[in-house]
Amino acid sequence: MNLRLISAKKIQGEITVPGDKSISHRAVMLGSLAKGITRIQNFLMGEDCLSTIRCFKAMGIDFEYTDDNIIIVRGRGLHGLREPDTVLDVGNSGTTIRLIMGILAGQTFFSVVTGDDSIRKRPMGRVTEPLKEMGASIVGRQNGTLAPIAIQGGSLRGIRFVSPVASAQVKSSVLLAGLYARGQTIVWEPQKSRDHTERMLSYMGAEVETTDRVVKITGNPGLEGKPVEIPGDISSAAFFMVAAAALPGSRLRLNRVGINPTRTGVIDVLRNMGAEISIVNEDIVNGEPVSDLIVRGEGLKGTVIEGEIIPRLIDEIPAITVAAAVAEGETIIRDAAELKVKESNRISTIASELRKMGAEVRELKDGLQITGIPSLKGAICESHGDHRVAMSMAVAGLIAEGKTTVKNAKCVGISFPGFERHLDDLTVQ
Ligand code: S3P
Repeated sequence: MNLRLISAKKIQGEITVPGDKSISHRAVMLGSLAKGITRIQNFLMGEDCLSTIRCFKAMGIDFEYTDDNIIIVRGRGLHGLREPDTVLDVGNSGTTIRLIMGILAGQTFFSVVTGDDSIRKRPMGRVTEPLKEMGASIVGRQNGTLAPIAIQGGSLRGIRFVSPVASAQVKSSVLLAGLYARGQTIVWEPQKSRDHTERMLSYMGAEVETTDRVVKITGNPGLEGKPVEIPGDISSAAFFMVAAAALPGSRLRLNRVGINPTRTGVIDVLRNMGAEISIVNEDIVNGEPVSDLIVRGEGLKGTVIEGEIIPRLIDEIPAITVAAAVAEGETIIRDAAELKVKESNRISTIASELRKMGAEVRELKDGLQITGIPSLKGAICESHGDHRVAMSMAVAGLIAEGKTTVKNAKCVGISFPGFERHLDDLTVQ
Protein backbone atom coordinates (compact mmCIF):
# COMPACT_ATOMS: atom_id res chain seq x y z
CA MET A 1 0.00 0.00 0.00
CA ASN A 2 1.27 3.47 -0.93
CA LEU A 3 0.26 6.85 0.53
CA ARG A 4 -0.23 9.66 -1.99
CA LEU A 5 -0.01 13.28 -0.86
CA ILE A 6 -0.35 16.65 -2.47
CA SER A 7 0.75 19.99 -1.15
CA ALA A 8 -1.62 21.40 1.53
CA LYS A 9 -2.38 25.05 2.38
CA LYS A 10 -3.15 24.37 6.03
CA ILE A 11 -4.53 21.97 8.62
CA GLN A 12 -7.94 22.82 9.99
CA GLY A 13 -10.36 21.02 12.30
CA GLU A 14 -10.59 18.57 15.16
CA ILE A 15 -9.24 15.06 15.69
CA THR A 16 -9.49 12.32 18.28
CA VAL A 17 -6.35 10.27 17.76
CA PRO A 18 -6.43 6.52 18.55
CA GLY A 19 -5.54 5.21 22.02
CA ASP A 20 -2.01 5.29 23.37
CA LYS A 21 0.04 2.31 22.20
CA SER A 22 2.19 2.00 25.34
CA ILE A 23 -0.79 2.17 27.69
CA SER A 24 -2.89 -0.23 25.55
CA HIS A 25 -0.14 -2.89 25.80
CA ARG A 26 0.08 -2.45 29.56
CA ALA A 27 -3.70 -2.60 30.04
CA VAL A 28 -3.80 -6.01 28.31
CA MET A 29 -0.79 -7.36 30.19
CA LEU A 30 -1.73 -6.14 33.66
CA GLY A 31 -5.42 -6.88 33.04
CA SER A 32 -4.40 -10.48 32.27
CA LEU A 33 -2.34 -10.76 35.49
CA ALA A 34 -4.98 -9.09 37.68
CA LYS A 35 -7.90 -10.91 39.26
CA GLY A 36 -11.27 -10.13 37.69
CA ILE A 37 -12.39 -7.94 34.85
CA THR A 38 -10.48 -5.10 33.22
CA ARG A 39 -12.66 -3.16 30.80
CA ILE A 40 -10.46 -1.20 28.41
CA GLN A 41 -12.02 1.75 26.65
CA ASN A 42 -10.42 3.38 23.56
CA PHE A 43 -8.01 0.45 23.16
CA LEU A 44 -5.61 0.91 20.23
CA MET A 45 -6.62 -1.66 17.61
CA GLY A 46 -3.22 -1.33 15.92
CA GLU A 47 -1.18 -4.36 14.86
CA ASP A 48 1.27 -4.09 17.77
CA CYS A 49 -1.40 -4.15 20.48
CA LEU A 50 -3.26 -6.95 18.70
CA SER A 51 0.01 -8.92 18.87
CA THR A 52 -0.03 -8.51 22.66
CA ILE A 53 -3.61 -9.80 22.82
CA ARG A 54 -2.68 -12.78 20.62
CA CYS A 55 0.19 -13.72 22.97
CA PHE A 56 -2.00 -13.60 26.08
CA LYS A 57 -4.77 -15.58 24.34
CA ALA A 58 -2.13 -18.23 23.67
CA MET A 59 -1.53 -18.32 27.44
CA GLY A 60 -5.20 -18.93 28.25
CA ILE A 61 -6.60 -15.41 28.74
CA ASP A 62 -10.11 -14.63 27.46
CA PHE A 63 -10.82 -11.38 25.66
CA GLU A 64 -14.18 -10.02 24.61
CA TYR A 65 -14.66 -7.20 22.11
CA THR A 66 -17.95 -5.52 23.03
CA ASP A 67 -17.92 -2.42 20.91
CA ASP A 68 -15.66 -0.49 18.56
CA ASN A 69 -12.63 0.03 20.76
CA ILE A 70 -13.73 -1.61 24.01
CA ILE A 71 -12.05 -4.78 25.17
CA ILE A 72 -12.88 -6.84 28.21
CA VAL A 73 -10.02 -8.84 29.70
CA ARG A 74 -10.84 -11.69 32.08
CA GLY A 75 -7.76 -11.70 34.28
CA ARG A 76 -6.70 -14.94 35.93
CA GLY A 77 -4.40 -13.56 38.61
CA LEU A 78 -0.59 -13.46 38.80
CA HIS A 79 -0.29 -17.24 38.55
CA GLY A 80 -3.15 -17.88 36.10
CA LEU A 81 -1.26 -18.03 32.78
CA ARG A 82 -0.79 -21.41 31.13
CA GLU A 83 2.10 -22.70 29.05
CA PRO A 84 1.60 -21.69 25.39
CA ASP A 85 1.68 -24.72 23.11
CA THR A 86 3.60 -22.89 20.38
CA VAL A 87 5.99 -19.99 19.84
CA LEU A 88 4.68 -16.54 20.90
CA ASP A 89 4.91 -14.22 17.89
CA VAL A 90 5.04 -10.48 18.71
CA GLY A 91 5.06 -9.33 15.07
CA ASN A 92 6.78 -5.91 14.89
CA SER A 93 6.22 -4.99 18.55
CA GLY A 94 9.30 -4.19 20.66
CA THR A 95 7.12 -3.35 23.65
CA THR A 96 5.36 -6.73 23.50
CA ILE A 97 8.53 -8.80 23.32
CA ARG A 98 10.48 -6.93 25.99
CA LEU A 99 7.65 -6.61 28.50
CA ILE A 100 6.36 -10.13 27.98
CA MET A 101 9.83 -11.54 28.65
CA GLY A 102 9.64 -10.01 32.14
CA ILE A 103 6.32 -11.77 32.74
CA LEU A 104 7.54 -15.06 31.23
CA ALA A 105 10.61 -14.97 33.47
CA GLY A 106 8.23 -15.27 36.42
CA GLN A 107 6.35 -18.32 35.08
CA THR A 108 7.17 -21.88 36.01
CA PHE A 109 6.56 -22.97 32.40
CA PHE A 110 8.61 -22.93 29.18
CA SER A 111 8.07 -20.40 26.41
CA VAL A 112 9.68 -19.11 23.22
CA VAL A 113 9.19 -15.56 21.86
CA THR A 114 10.02 -14.19 18.45
CA GLY A 115 8.87 -11.57 15.93
CA ASP A 116 9.31 -10.20 12.41
CA ASP A 117 12.57 -9.39 10.57
CA SER A 118 12.92 -6.04 12.36
CA ILE A 119 12.30 -7.51 15.83
CA ARG A 120 14.85 -10.26 15.22
CA LYS A 121 17.52 -7.60 14.67
CA ARG A 122 16.74 -5.51 17.77
CA PRO A 123 18.81 -5.80 20.96
CA MET A 124 17.28 -8.07 23.61
CA GLY A 125 20.34 -8.49 25.84
CA ARG A 126 19.34 -5.31 27.68
CA VAL A 127 16.35 -7.29 28.99
CA THR A 128 17.61 -10.87 29.11
CA GLU A 129 20.68 -9.93 31.19
CA PRO A 130 18.78 -8.54 34.22
CA LEU A 131 16.14 -11.28 33.95
CA LYS A 132 18.87 -13.93 34.09
CA GLU A 133 20.32 -12.16 37.11
CA MET A 134 16.91 -12.50 38.77
CA GLY A 135 17.11 -16.28 38.26
CA ALA A 136 15.38 -17.03 34.95
CA SER A 137 16.97 -19.46 32.47
CA ILE A 138 17.09 -17.72 29.11
CA VAL A 139 18.75 -18.70 25.87
CA GLY A 140 18.55 -17.20 22.41
CA ARG A 141 20.51 -16.37 19.27
CA GLN A 142 23.83 -14.61 19.76
CA ASN A 143 24.21 -15.63 23.36
CA GLY A 144 20.66 -14.68 24.35
CA THR A 145 20.74 -11.19 22.83
CA LEU A 146 18.55 -11.74 19.75
CA ALA A 147 15.12 -13.35 19.23
CA PRO A 148 13.95 -16.09 19.03
CA ILE A 149 14.45 -16.37 22.78
CA ALA A 150 13.50 -19.33 24.98
CA ILE A 151 12.62 -18.85 28.65
CA GLN A 152 12.23 -21.24 31.52
CA GLY A 153 11.18 -19.02 34.39
CA GLY A 154 10.18 -19.28 38.02
CA SER A 155 11.76 -18.78 41.43
CA LEU A 156 13.01 -15.22 40.90
CA ARG A 157 14.77 -13.02 43.43
CA GLY A 158 14.53 -9.21 43.59
CA ILE A 159 17.60 -7.35 42.29
CA ARG A 160 18.93 -3.83 42.27
CA PHE A 161 19.34 -3.11 38.58
CA VAL A 162 21.20 -0.10 37.18
CA SER A 163 19.98 0.22 33.60
CA PRO A 164 22.58 1.48 31.12
CA VAL A 165 19.81 3.00 28.93
CA ALA A 166 16.79 5.19 29.66
CA SER A 167 14.32 2.64 28.33
CA ALA A 168 10.78 2.11 29.57
CA GLN A 169 10.77 -1.32 27.96
CA VAL A 170 13.80 -2.43 29.96
CA LYS A 171 12.53 -0.84 33.18
CA SER A 172 9.05 -2.34 32.72
CA SER A 173 10.36 -5.81 31.90
CA VAL A 174 12.36 -5.92 35.14
CA LEU A 175 9.44 -4.49 37.16
CA LEU A 176 7.05 -7.08 35.73
CA ALA A 177 9.50 -9.85 36.65
CA GLY A 178 9.65 -8.13 40.05
CA LEU A 179 5.96 -9.02 40.53
CA TYR A 180 7.12 -12.64 40.80
CA ALA A 181 10.35 -12.08 42.73
CA ARG A 182 11.14 -12.60 46.39
CA GLY A 183 11.62 -9.25 48.13
CA GLN A 184 12.04 -5.92 46.44
CA THR A 185 13.17 -5.18 42.88
CA ILE A 186 14.79 -1.81 42.29
CA VAL A 187 15.44 -0.22 38.88
CA TRP A 188 17.60 2.86 38.43
CA GLU A 189 17.71 4.58 35.04
CA PRO A 190 20.07 7.27 33.71
CA GLN A 191 17.14 9.52 32.71
CA LYS A 192 13.50 9.10 33.49
CA SER A 193 11.65 7.16 30.79
CA ARG A 194 7.87 6.85 30.36
CA ASP A 195 6.26 5.62 33.58
CA HIS A 196 2.99 4.05 32.39
CA THR A 197 3.85 0.66 33.89
CA GLU A 198 4.42 2.13 37.35
CA ARG A 199 1.20 4.16 37.15
CA MET A 200 -0.95 1.22 36.06
CA LEU A 201 0.65 -1.16 38.55
CA SER A 202 -0.21 1.26 41.38
CA TYR A 203 -3.71 1.78 39.99
CA MET A 204 -4.32 -2.00 40.08
CA GLY A 205 -2.99 -2.36 43.62
CA ALA A 206 0.75 -3.14 43.47
CA GLU A 207 3.21 -1.58 45.90
CA VAL A 208 5.35 0.71 43.75
CA GLU A 209 7.59 3.50 45.03
CA THR A 210 9.03 6.02 42.59
CA THR A 211 11.48 8.84 43.08
CA ASP A 212 12.63 10.57 39.91
CA ARG A 213 14.91 7.92 38.34
CA VAL A 214 14.43 5.03 40.79
CA VAL A 215 11.48 2.62 40.94
CA LYS A 216 10.95 -0.04 43.62
CA ILE A 217 8.40 -2.82 43.50
CA THR A 218 7.53 -5.45 46.09
CA GLY A 219 6.92 -8.99 44.84
CA ASN A 220 3.68 -10.95 44.92
CA PRO A 221 1.06 -8.16 45.15
CA GLY A 222 -2.66 -8.77 44.72
CA LEU A 223 -3.48 -7.08 41.41
CA GLU A 224 -7.13 -6.23 40.85
CA GLY A 225 -8.86 -5.72 37.50
CA LYS A 226 -10.13 -2.16 37.03
CA PRO A 227 -11.74 -0.07 34.29
CA VAL A 228 -9.13 1.63 32.13
CA GLU A 229 -9.61 4.51 29.69
CA ILE A 230 -6.75 4.77 27.23
CA PRO A 231 -5.81 8.41 26.50
CA GLY A 232 -5.17 9.47 22.89
CA ASP A 233 -1.59 8.70 21.84
CA ILE A 234 0.59 11.82 21.85
CA SER A 235 2.99 9.96 19.55
CA SER A 236 0.20 9.72 16.94
CA ALA A 237 -0.98 13.25 17.68
CA ALA A 238 2.57 14.47 16.98
CA PHE A 239 2.23 13.94 13.19
CA PHE A 240 -0.76 16.28 13.03
CA MET A 241 0.73 18.72 15.53
CA VAL A 242 3.82 19.04 13.32
CA ALA A 243 1.71 19.45 10.17
CA ALA A 244 -0.34 22.21 11.84
CA ALA A 245 2.74 23.88 13.32
CA ALA A 246 4.55 23.91 9.98
CA LEU A 247 1.67 25.27 7.89
CA PRO A 248 1.01 28.90 8.92
CA GLY A 249 -2.67 29.71 9.38
CA SER A 250 -3.49 26.19 10.61
CA ARG A 251 -5.69 25.59 13.66
CA LEU A 252 -6.04 22.06 14.99
CA ARG A 253 -7.80 20.73 18.08
CA LEU A 254 -6.78 17.29 19.40
CA ASN A 255 -9.18 15.71 21.91
CA ARG A 256 -8.25 13.79 25.05
CA VAL A 257 -4.55 13.31 24.36
CA GLY A 258 -2.32 11.75 27.04
CA ILE A 259 -0.04 14.41 28.52
CA ASN A 260 1.96 12.30 30.95
CA PRO A 261 5.05 14.50 31.60
CA THR A 262 7.35 11.64 30.52
CA ARG A 263 5.82 11.94 27.02
CA THR A 264 5.32 15.66 26.36
CA GLY A 265 8.73 16.64 24.99
CA VAL A 266 7.14 17.24 21.58
CA ILE A 267 4.96 20.02 23.03
CA ASP A 268 8.00 21.71 24.58
CA VAL A 269 10.02 21.47 21.37
CA LEU A 270 7.29 22.70 19.02
CA ARG A 271 6.65 25.63 21.38
CA ASN A 272 10.41 26.40 21.35
CA MET A 273 10.30 26.34 17.57
CA GLY A 274 7.52 28.95 17.57
CA ALA A 275 4.24 26.99 17.48
CA GLU A 276 1.40 28.10 19.70
CA ILE A 277 0.01 25.15 21.70
CA SER A 278 -2.71 25.46 24.37
CA ILE A 279 -3.54 22.73 26.86
CA VAL A 280 -7.23 22.78 27.85
CA ASN A 281 -9.78 20.55 29.66
CA GLU A 282 -7.21 18.76 31.80
CA ASP A 283 -8.37 15.54 33.45
CA ILE A 284 -6.90 12.38 35.02
CA VAL A 285 -7.92 8.86 34.01
CA ASN A 286 -6.54 5.78 35.78
CA GLY A 287 -3.56 7.78 37.03
CA GLU A 288 -2.76 9.28 33.60
CA PRO A 289 -3.21 12.99 32.79
CA VAL A 290 -5.16 13.82 29.60
CA SER A 291 -6.21 17.08 27.95
CA ASP A 292 -7.26 18.66 24.69
CA LEU A 293 -4.52 20.39 22.72
CA ILE A 294 -4.98 23.33 20.38
CA VAL A 295 -2.16 23.95 17.91
CA ARG A 296 -1.83 27.08 15.80
CA GLY A 297 0.69 27.26 12.98
CA GLU A 298 3.17 30.14 12.90
CA GLY A 299 6.55 30.35 11.24
CA LEU A 300 9.01 27.86 12.82
CA LYS A 301 12.64 28.34 13.81
CA GLY A 302 15.39 25.78 14.50
CA THR A 303 16.24 24.48 17.97
CA VAL A 304 18.57 22.21 19.92
CA ILE A 305 17.16 18.92 21.30
CA GLU A 306 19.47 17.03 23.67
CA GLY A 307 19.92 15.53 27.15
CA GLU A 308 17.05 14.77 29.55
CA ILE A 309 14.32 15.64 27.05
CA ILE A 310 15.31 12.84 24.64
CA PRO A 311 13.39 9.97 26.33
CA ARG A 312 10.38 12.33 26.58
CA LEU A 313 10.15 12.58 22.77
CA ILE A 314 12.15 9.65 21.40
CA ASP A 315 9.27 8.37 19.24
CA GLU A 316 8.39 11.88 18.02
CA ILE A 317 11.85 12.70 16.63
CA PRO A 318 10.98 11.49 13.10
CA ALA A 319 7.98 13.88 13.03
CA ILE A 320 9.99 16.73 14.58
CA THR A 321 12.68 16.41 11.87
CA VAL A 322 10.02 17.31 9.30
CA ALA A 323 9.29 20.56 11.16
CA ALA A 324 13.04 21.19 11.40
CA ALA A 325 13.47 20.68 7.63
CA VAL A 326 11.34 23.78 6.93
CA ALA A 327 12.19 25.84 10.04
CA GLU A 328 14.35 28.93 9.80
CA GLY A 329 17.94 28.11 10.82
CA GLU A 330 19.51 24.98 12.18
CA THR A 331 18.14 22.18 14.37
CA ILE A 332 20.48 19.84 16.21
CA ILE A 333 19.35 16.57 17.78
CA ARG A 334 21.93 14.84 20.01
CA ASP A 335 22.06 12.11 22.69
CA ALA A 336 19.59 10.09 20.62
CA ALA A 337 21.65 7.02 19.63
CA GLU A 338 18.63 4.89 20.68
CA LEU A 339 17.06 5.93 17.36
CA LYS A 340 19.40 3.45 15.66
CA VAL A 341 17.71 0.46 17.33
CA LYS A 342 14.05 1.32 16.75
CA GLU A 343 11.79 -0.28 14.10
CA SER A 344 14.41 0.96 11.61
CA ASN A 345 17.67 2.86 12.12
CA ARG A 346 15.80 6.14 12.29
CA ILE A 347 18.91 8.31 12.03
CA SER A 348 19.70 6.91 8.59
CA THR A 349 16.18 6.22 7.32
CA ILE A 350 14.91 9.71 8.18
CA ALA A 351 18.04 11.37 6.76
CA SER A 352 17.83 9.47 3.47
CA GLU A 353 14.10 10.06 3.01
CA LEU A 354 14.17 13.77 3.87
CA ARG A 355 17.10 14.28 1.48
CA LYS A 356 14.96 12.89 -1.34
CA MET A 357 12.72 15.92 -0.75
CA GLY A 358 15.63 18.35 -0.92
CA ALA A 359 16.18 18.75 2.84
CA GLU A 360 19.64 19.56 4.19
CA VAL A 361 20.34 16.80 6.70
CA ARG A 362 23.59 15.56 8.21
CA GLU A 363 23.78 12.33 10.22
CA LEU A 364 25.55 12.66 13.57
CA LYS A 365 26.76 9.70 15.63
CA ASP A 366 23.88 10.15 18.06
CA GLY A 367 21.43 12.34 16.17
CA LEU A 368 20.84 14.66 13.24
CA GLN A 369 21.75 18.16 12.12
CA ILE A 370 19.12 19.78 9.91
CA THR A 371 19.35 23.16 8.19
CA GLY A 372 15.90 24.46 7.34
CA ILE A 373 15.02 25.44 3.76
CA PRO A 374 12.00 27.48 2.61
CA SER A 375 10.25 24.53 1.06
CA LEU A 376 10.58 20.77 0.49
CA LYS A 377 9.93 19.18 -2.91
CA GLY A 378 7.56 16.27 -3.43
CA ALA A 379 9.32 12.93 -3.99
CA ILE A 380 8.88 9.17 -3.99
CA CYS A 381 9.76 8.03 -0.47
CA GLU A 382 10.09 4.66 1.24
CA SER A 383 8.80 3.65 4.69
CA HIS A 384 11.59 1.11 5.36
CA GLY A 385 8.79 -0.88 7.04
CA ASP A 386 8.78 1.68 9.87
CA HIS A 387 5.36 3.13 10.75
CA ARG A 388 6.74 6.39 12.14
CA VAL A 389 8.99 6.97 9.10
CA ALA A 390 5.98 6.39 6.81
CA MET A 391 3.79 8.91 8.67
CA SER A 392 6.60 11.49 8.96
CA MET A 393 7.16 11.38 5.21
CA ALA A 394 3.41 11.73 4.65
CA VAL A 395 3.47 14.93 6.74
CA ALA A 396 6.52 16.09 4.78
CA GLY A 397 4.46 15.44 1.63
CA LEU A 398 1.72 17.81 2.85
CA ILE A 399 4.23 20.55 3.53
CA ALA A 400 6.21 20.01 0.31
CA GLU A 401 5.54 21.49 -3.11
CA GLY A 402 4.06 19.07 -5.65
CA LYS A 403 3.25 15.39 -5.18
CA THR A 404 4.70 12.81 -2.81
CA THR A 405 4.31 9.05 -2.63
CA VAL A 406 5.21 7.03 0.46
CA LYS A 407 5.80 3.45 -0.63
CA ASN A 408 5.14 0.38 1.53
CA ALA A 409 2.98 2.33 3.96
CA LYS A 410 0.88 -0.59 5.21
CA CYS A 411 3.00 -0.45 8.39
CA VAL A 412 1.07 2.71 9.41
CA GLY A 413 -1.52 0.27 10.82
CA ILE A 414 0.97 -0.78 13.49
CA SER A 415 0.18 2.30 15.55
CA PHE A 416 -2.34 4.46 13.69
CA PRO A 417 -5.26 2.77 11.93
CA GLY A 418 -7.22 5.49 10.07
CA PHE A 419 -4.22 7.80 9.63
CA GLU A 420 -4.93 8.42 5.93
CA ARG A 421 -8.60 9.24 6.54
CA HIS A 422 -7.69 11.79 9.23
CA LEU A 423 -5.11 13.29 6.89
CA ASP A 424 -7.78 13.78 4.20
CA ASP A 425 -10.31 15.19 6.67
CA LEU A 426 -7.99 17.80 8.18
CA THR A 427 -6.15 19.02 5.10
CA VAL A 428 -7.20 22.22 3.34
CA GLN A 429 -5.84 22.26 -0.22
C1 S3P B 1 7.96 2.11 24.74
C2 S3P B 1 9.20 2.55 25.10
C3 S3P B 1 10.14 3.19 24.15
C4 S3P B 1 9.44 3.64 22.88
C5 S3P B 1 8.53 2.57 22.34
C6 S3P B 1 7.45 2.26 23.36
C7 S3P B 1 7.09 1.48 25.76
O1 S3P B 1 11.15 2.25 23.80
O2 S3P B 1 10.39 4.01 21.91
O3 S3P B 1 7.93 2.99 21.15
O4 S3P B 1 5.88 1.33 25.52
O5 S3P B 1 7.60 1.15 26.83
P1 S3P B 1 12.46 2.03 24.69
O6 S3P B 1 12.05 1.46 25.97
O7 S3P B 1 13.31 1.08 23.89
O8 S3P B 1 13.10 3.39 24.82
